[in-house]
Amino acid sequence: MAKTRIAILFGGQSSEHEISCISAGGVLAAIDRERFEPILIGITRSGKWVLVAQATSLAIKDGQLPEVDDSLPAINADIHGFKVDGKSLEIDLLFPLLHGPYGEDGTVQGLCEMAGIRYVGSGVLASAVAMDKSFAKPIFEAAGLKVAPGVVLKKGEWTATQIENLSYPLFVKPARSGSSRGTTKVKAFGELADAIEHGFQFDTKVLIEEAIVGREIECGVLEIAGIANASPVGQIKILGNHEFYDFEAKYLDDATTVIFPDDLPHGVEAEIQEAAITAFKALGCEGLARVDFFYTETGEIIINELNTMPGFTPTSMYPKLWSRAGVEYSELITCLIDAALLRSAHVTR
Ligand SMILES: Nc1ncnc2c1ncn2[C@@H]1O[C@H](COP(=O)(O)OP(=O)(O)O)[C@@H](O)[C@H]1O
Ligand SMILES: [Mg+2]
Repeated sequence: MAKTRIAILFGGQSSEHEISCISAGGVLAAIDRERFEPILIGITRSGKWVLVAQATSLAIKDGQLPEVDDSLPAINADIHGFKVDGKSLEIDLLFPLLHGPYGEDGTVQGLCEMAGIRYVGSGVLASAVAMDKSFAKPIFEAAGLKVAPGVVLKKGEWTATQIENLSYPLFVKPARSGSSRGTTKVKAFGELADAIEHGFQFDTKVLIEEAIVGREIECGVLEIAGIANASPVGQIKILGNHEFYDFEAKYLDDATTVIFPDDLPHGVEAEIQEAAITAFKALGCEGLARVDFFYTETGEIIINELNTMPGFTPTSMYPKLWSRAGVEYSELITCLIDAALLRSAHVTR
């Protein structure tokens, strides 16, 4: 039987370029070669699509993070599909291992829809809504989930009265950022203006939220045969000197680890799992998502955000959560591909 040709799309123009490369390296090493034939498509930082050789190292080497090389053969990607040197690149499925804008936000998904190419994960709408916290939060609330009290400021249009009723400390964060980029914890009014200005460097919309005191707990959702399943929950443990789960804590200095909490009161894990599935369905997600919560000292479960393409290196939270449930990395990749192959290649599916 012919193997299913899977295009792994990675890199991209967002701040999560390197993480995406490492995720792609992980998938390439673990994908089931009996059934699948992987093809590597990289997107450079400037947005050029290139064909990447399988022998390329996509791991951290001598402290250097991998990135997509600009000098590789260009791929022409349009609504007729993908071409290299005028020859069409035959693929059966696209695995968009991209994080952040132009990848996780529905844009690549839209291109695939136009080109009639199936892909792993959420469609245009769910991807776009999940990426923009100012839209995702009201949808979560309408589905009965708790969110942090907060407001949305639009560049050039906001007024100080919007923030008046919020209590400090506050979090200032761009509506569509990832990796904690542009996010600041503000302890007093005097620090607010700088934090807002900083946030606006990353987006035209900025969220101001009350800081939630609690543990950060994450849950993976995986669709198997059309049914959304929730993983065991994992807790982010920040080591060292970080005020919150910021960019450095996330990626740069092994400052965080995942623990599987065994001290949650009875029923709380099940409640978080249920909330994760509610969030997944509320946004109309498909395939996979990682849903991030705060669990407060008073026992409240507050949703923070949903990621439609969570970090996917073999040591990332999402694969770790599923490994805990007995679904190892290779099997997880197969599940995602199978879920995507079940769907038709058209928007009105
Ligand atoms: N309202 C909040 N209360 C407490 N901590 C927060 C709040 N909002 C964000 N944070 C902290 O900032 C981190 C990044 O914010 P998040 O909303 O998850 O954005 P990103 O998409 O960049 O991951 C969170 O993991 C958490 O540590
Ligand atoms: Mg986050």
